Formats: sequence, structure tokens, C-alpha cells
Amino acid sequence: MTQNKLKIYQAPLQGFTDFTFRKVFSDEFGGVDKYFIPYLAYGKGREIKKSSVREVFPENNQALPVVPQVLFSDEKELFDLVTLLVDYGYEEINLNLGCPYPMATNKGRGAAWLEKPEALKTTLQQLYSQGFQTNFSVKMRAGMTSNQDAPAIFEVLNGFPFTELIFHPRTASQMYTGKANPQWFAEAASLVKHPMVYNGDLFSETDLQELKTVLPEQDNFMIGRGLLMDPSLPLRLKGETWEPKELQKKMKKFHDQLLEEYSLRLEGGGHILMKMSQFWTYFSQSFENPHKAMKLVKKSSNILKYNAAVVEIFRDL
Ligand SMILES: Cc1cc2nc3c(=O)[nH]c(=O)nc-3n(C[C@H](O)[C@H](O)[C@H](O)COP(=O)(O)O)c2cc1C
Repeated sequence: MTQNKLKIYQAPLQGFTDFTFRKVFSDEFGGVDKYFIPYLAYGKGREIKKSSVREVFPENNQALPVVPQVLFSDEKELFDLVTLLVDYGYEEINLNLGCPYPMATNKGRGAAWLEKPEALKTTLQQLYSQGFQTNFSVKMRAGMTSNQDAPAIFEVLNGFPFTELIFHPRTASQMYTGKANPQWFAEAASLVKHPMVYNGDLFSETDLQELKTVLPEQDNFMIGRGLLMDPSLPLRLKGETWEPKELQKKMKKFHDQLLEEYSLRLEGGGHILMKMSQFWTYFSQSFENPHKAMKLVKKSSNILKYNAAVVEIFRDL
């Protein structure tokens, strides 16, 4: 039961929070107000990747409030992606101005825009002049190598009617090192006219309490890795509690459901094991001995052995 006015968004995590994950997560846990689909972009030959298109098919996203995201280097890529998503009927599209990986930034995508406020302004003017029947929101970091990039970007963004701005207060060059800086968020909130969503390093109730000491008014948070480590986090932050045994049973059911869905979707034990093993890099963090859990998973050479390993891991929870 929700006991506070928190709004929680599921962050897009490419390779993890796909439509299968969203379905199982919302069936077994939920507590998320909006789900962001990992970015859609051109693949080879400046064509939209087929595997990414499947992620935004309306029939794969009917039951939940989802927002697709676009990663783009220029107007052509942006308009192509937005056109597809508008055709599919999406009412909000998120612009990725935060992806820190050189594979993206070297091509002028993601966080690379944070160093080009003038080019961004021109591109956004062009975008809004197309009259697309949809709303836009933005997800960004504080800068490429310095948070001094941000004020000029905020000034540009203030000139457009974005529905909200999701801000991860780290620079791209930090990747995931150090800590997200709530003070940077507070400064941003004083400059930005749009509603703002905090994103970064929210892993527990204690983290939320600490954030609230710096940002007492902030009620809207996006969670990425914390939700993968512990899918009960959004509901817990909203005030729900479980007996440890009950939660353990719920986690096991969540896992089993995820395995079942991927077994239907993926072909061959190898692919299924690889997928589940990726998830365990996060799941294992909520177990007392993450290293041991990961080792047991990695050592499983087939699904039978994997199932036995999972039973053993959950016995230790
Ligand atoms: C494996 C991985 C994939 C990600 N994919 C995306 C993506 O597609 N789009 C995006 O905006 N951010 C992406 N992110 C960033 C997250 O959405 C989020 O901003 C970041 O993890 C910080 O939030 P957290 O501390 O709650 O995890 C990704 C992060 C990770 C670790």
C-alpha cells in the first residue's frame, strides 16, 4: 500500500529492462509509476535496429505506462526515430542526452550534446517545428567532463515545453564512479523550469532518507540498478513491508517467472543461461554473499544445473 507521495520511474537499462522484464516485474512487484524503454537508435547503415523496434512494438507494451527513448546524433536520426514512435501512438518520447559510453559520444550521441548547447538548440527548434503529435522529456547527466556544461544546457531546455527533466548528477566521464551528487541536482532544480526527476545511486531506504535531507521537496525518483538488485525496492520505498520469508518467496517466484518468460522467448539453453547470468550480476547484490551466488550461477553449464544452483542460492538468503 502506498504510504507517501513518492513517484518512482524505472530507468532504462539497455540489455536488462526489456518488455519481458517489465511484464514479470510488474506482475510480481510493481510500485513503478512509469517505465522507460531503453534507447532506440540507428544501427549499422543508419537503419533502425530491428531488435530495438521489437522493444517498442505497441503489442509488447500495452498493459503498462511506458515511455520510449531515442538516442541520436543528428536531426535525421532523431526525426526518423520520433516518426516511428509517433506512428506507434506513444504520447511521450524521452530524449537521451546522458549516455556516457564513448561508442555513443564519439558519434555525437547522448552526453556529447551537453558540450554543444547551440547545436542542441537548433535541433530542438527543428524538432518542435515538425509538429509531432507527442510530448517530449529529457534524460541527462551534468556534463561530459564537467558539471559546468549544465547551466548552458538548462537555458536551452527552458526554451522548450518538455514535460519533465530526469537528471543524473554525474558527468559522463565519471561513468559510475564516485557518487551521484544531490547538491548538483539542487542547483539544477533552481535553474530548470520543468518538473525534475532525480536519478542516481538510490539503492535503499537509507539512501532515500539521505537524499531527502538535501532535497526535501523532491518526490519523483528514477531507479535503475537498485531495482535490478532488489525488485522490491520501489514498493518498499512507498512504505510496503514484508516478512523476510515472505519476501524471499516472492523473489524466488519473480526469478522463476523471469526464467520461464525468457525460456519462451529465447532459443537454446546457452542463450537463456547467458541472459539469466547477466541478471545475476545485479540480483546477487541482494544476497549475503554476492560472490558465492555469482560463482554458483557462472558454474552452471546447463539449465538443470542452473536450477539447482538457484535453489541453493535462495536457501542462503
Ligand atoms: C547496463 C546499463 C544500461 C543502460 N542503458 C540506458 C539506456 O538505454 N538509456 C538511458 O537513458 N540510460 C541507460 N542507463 C543509465 C540508467 O538509466 C541510469 O541513468 C543509471 O544507471 C543511474 O541510475 P541508477 O544509479 O539508479 O542505476 C544504463 C545503465 C546501465 C548500467
